[in-house]
Parts: sequence; C-alpha cells; structure tokens
Amino acid sequence: MTSKTIPLMNLKAQYQGLARELRKCVLRALDSGAYILGPEGKAFEEEFAKSTGAKHAVGVSSGTSALSLALKAMGVEPGDEVIVPAFTFIATATAVSAVGAAPRLADVDPVTLTMDPESAAKAVTKRTKVLTPVHLYGQPADMDALTALARRRGLKVLEDCAQAHMTLFHGLQAGTMGDMAAFSFYPSKNLGAAGDAGAIVTGSERLAGLCRQLRHGGRAVGSAYEHEFIGGNDRLDDLQAAVLRVKLRHLASWIKSRRKLAAIYNEELSNLGLELPDLGQNGNKHSFHLFVIRTENRDGLMKHLQASGVGCGVYYPIPVHLQPAYRSLGYRKGDFPVAEQASLTNLALPLYPELKASEVRRVCKAVRQFFK
Ligand SMILES: Cc1ncc(COP(=O)(O)O)c(C=O)c1O
Repeated sequence: MTSKTIPLMNLKAQYQGLARELRKCVLRALDSGAYILGPEGKAFEEEFAKSTGAKHAVGVSSGTSALSLALKAMGVEPGDEVIVPAFTFIATATAVSAVGAAPRLADVDPVTLTMDPESAAKAVTKRTKVLTPVHLYGQPADMDALTALARRRGLKVLEDCAQAHMTLFHGLQAGTMGDMAAFSFYPSKNLGAAGDAGAIVTGSERLAGLCRQLRHGGRAVGSAYEHEFIGGNDRLDDLQAAVLRVKLRHLASWIKSRRKLAAIYNEELSNLGLELPDLGQNGNKHSFHLFVIRTENRDGLMKHLQASGVGCGVYYPIPVHLQPAYRSLGYRKGDFPVAEQASLTNLALPLYPELKASEVRRVCKAVRQFFK
C-alpha cells in the first residue's frame, strides 16, 4: 500500500479521532472491576434502545448471536423454516442453522438487493415461522410488503440490521418494524466495537427477557444456578459496551457524513452506465455501511482501481445457495438469478466518515478513467 492509497475502510482514522475518549472509557471500565453484565452494559442497552426508538435492547456477543438468540426467543426450533435472502452475509442463514432450523431462500429485488417479497411469498411453507429481511449495505428492505406477507401467513419478522444502524424506511428506523431485530457491532460496522459485539432490539418485554436469559446460560430470573432454558454464553462485555457508548454519541454525525459522501459519488459517477445505490426518497434513507456500485465489468474495474491505489471490495462474491456449506439445501445455479447477478457485479468503493470529499473525487476519477 503506497501512502496515497485510499483504503476501502479506515478504522484507525476513527480511533485516532476518538483516542482520548476511548482510552478514558476503557480505563473507567477496567477500574470498575465489573466486566460482565455490569453498569456499562446496562447503560449501553438503555442508550442504544433510545437511539433506535425500540423499547428494549439486549447486548450480546455478536450480530450472529443476536440473530440466533432472537430466533430461539421466538420459538424457532428443529423442523421449522426461516426465510432468508439468497444474497446476504452468510450469518443470516447460519444463525437459522444454529438453532436447528432450516433456511429457505428467497431472491432479492434487482434495485435494492434486499428480500424480494414475491420470491419470499413463494418460499413460505407450512413449516415457516419467521422472515429475516436484511437491510443490505444500509439500504432499507421493503418492510411494508414483507410485514404484510408476515401478517397474511402468520409469521414473525426478524430484521437483520447488522449493516443498518440508522437506516430509515418510510421514516421508521430499521429495527423497529419487525418483531425483533439483530444488530452487529463488528468493528467496521457503522457503529463498531473494539472487537465482537451485537444487540437485539424489540418492543416486546417478554422477548427481551427471554434473550437476557438465553445469553446468560438460560438462567431463571433472579436465580444464581437454576437454569430454566438451555442457553449459551452470548453476553456483551462491559469493556465493549463502554467503547460503544462513546461511539454511539458520534453515530448520527458519522451517518450524515456517509450520506454526504455517497451523494458526491452518485453525482460524479452518473452517466457511466453503472448501477448506483438509491440515496432514498419517501422517507427512506440508506445508511451507507457500504457504498456499492454494480457493473458487468466488475473484475476489470477492481483490478484497475487497485492498480490506481484505490481500495475496493466485493460484498459478496457467492450467494448463499451456492455456498459449499449449504450444498445440502439442494439449491442450484439459476435458482436465484438476481442474487447470482449481484454476486458477479457488485463492487464496494471507499466509504467511511473520515474520508474527504476530495478523496471521493479521486476515486471517481479513477473509475471514469476505466470506462473511457
Ligand atoms: C448482514 C449481516 N448479518 C449478520 C452479520 C453477523 O454479525 P457478526 O459479524 O457481528 O456476528 C453480519 C456481519 O458481518 C452481516 O453483515
């Protein structure tokens, strides 16, 4: 990497801007002597619930555990099916497998790359319990159509908000439209910890309570060693919660920067025949965890950008149904054409709140050079 390289993401730049605050909060958490289910975790849960507009937030150890605990709390068990988009990070599907249920896949919408309600409707069977729309890259899924489908078929909805902190659908925050939602605080996410962390949000006190028990060995409420359920260890560390509390205070301004930079990209890259992300209308707002363009010549563009000192990345190169891990589901190439096409054409360009507008313009110049 030369000094002029513009990376795809830059976690160090974020840390440098917050180093004093972060060191202070980590020391405070260390000095407290309470490292698990302590005051930082509790305060973070309250602050995160407030920021998402949900009634309850439960801190857990990752986005993946948030998904599987939520499924378990909603009563998903072996023999059940859960509808998952064919184009997502694989954890949306593996969380279903982790509770012993089977993912049933649905194709994605060609514009938003989020769960296609018609394809989802076709995938529903008598065994289906839950729909898990993913607000991929920060782009809102069509929650009107998906929640209507869930109501019609008696299903629950678990929003995968791992990439969707502060995404809006018709003015409503991602995470508040389904029965439950799972957030990831993987370090590169819009709100990232200094390690693995996640949270479940829900409007239901009962479901939040179940998740609190499940993350903590299935303990009976108020009991030390009576275990009501078979739970695991999926708790959020207080050290991570302390870091997240500091970063949460900056989240709104970071998302604002992401949106501003995305608008510059869209303006500079128009007229090249690329598929560009939708900035949002009618109260929809993308939160730009990733800025992803689509082009048939993705691999050529990627090579050119790398040679020009521009970081870029593919999210994701293999759709869920073609993953070796899911061979047993019996899907084949051609089953989900939009997901397959997206996996061949997507390319993420550099985007992080500290990125300068001039750097975005330099990236765009390199893209334009390729298409000349
Ligand atoms: C869409 C999606 N779902 C789930 C996850 C899982 O989150 P974690 O890595 O925190 O387990 C991720 C994280 O990359 C994700 O992008």
